[in-house]
Amino acid sequence: MAKKFINKITIVGCGPGSKKYLTGYALQQINSAEVLIGSRRLLSLFPDADLDTYVLNNNYKLLLTRIVSLSKRKRVVVLVSGDPGFFSYAKLIIDKIGIENCEVIPGISSVQLAFAKIGRTWNDACFISLQGRSGKLASVVKKIIENEKVAILTDNANSVKLIARKLIDSGLKSRKIYVCENLSLEKERIREFDVSSIMKIRVSDLTVIIILDES
Ligand SMILES: C[S@@+](CC[C@H](N)C(=O)[O-])C[C@H]1O[C@@H](n2cnc3c(N)ncnc32)[C@H](O)[C@@H]1O
Repeated sequence: MAKKFINKITIVGCGPGSKKYLTGYALQQINSAEVLIGSRRLLSLFPDADLDTYVLNNNYKLLLTRIVSLSKRKRVVVLVSGDPGFFSYAKLIIDKIGIENCEVIPGISSVQLAFAKIGRTWNDACFISLQGRSGKLASVVKKIIENEKVAILTDNANSVKLIARKLIDSGLKSRKIYVCENLSLEKERIREFDVSSIMKIRVSDLTVIIILDES
């Protein structure tokens, strides 16, 4: 059984990036934190916070041990982007210390905002994350063949082109692709493409794509 902690670790879903998409409760929890942990991008949303901060990058395994020891003395809040239950660091924390030692605060996911922007439902969509999984493009194509609506979290600018190339090679040229970049942020851009024209575009590293079969 997981050990009981003195202070629960609060995992806050910060939404797609702009503060306007943070919930009131999330903000309240962040304001009462003694230690704030998150990516540089999320920490920069709270420049005035007078507390200890730790930057989360690819040090996430080491930081996990740190989070556990800090939580014994302080109120630790971990910031994750979007919703904690959707491809985030929250799973590693909960698996390590148990949900009884955590409070998870939902946030608006990047995919929720992407679907809202293009005016489509997402209850009938299939979701894929390519983060650290670019080698698995074959299984991504299988999912695209099997589903009429697929949302993909891309892991870098290049992966959109790799997906398009696979679609062309698999005879799936008629799919429509929405490229939703920097959602809620200053450089937000939502564009619609056919598969062949996507090969020519540049996209941001912070991108969700939605692939539709409307044939
Ligand atoms: C580690 S995952 C986190 C997903 C997050 N938990 C969520 O619910 O949106 C990071 C990926 O989410 C997507 N993402 C997060 N914020 C985004 C934004 N503002 N605009 C576009 N895509 C975003 C990108 O595909 C990025 O590579």
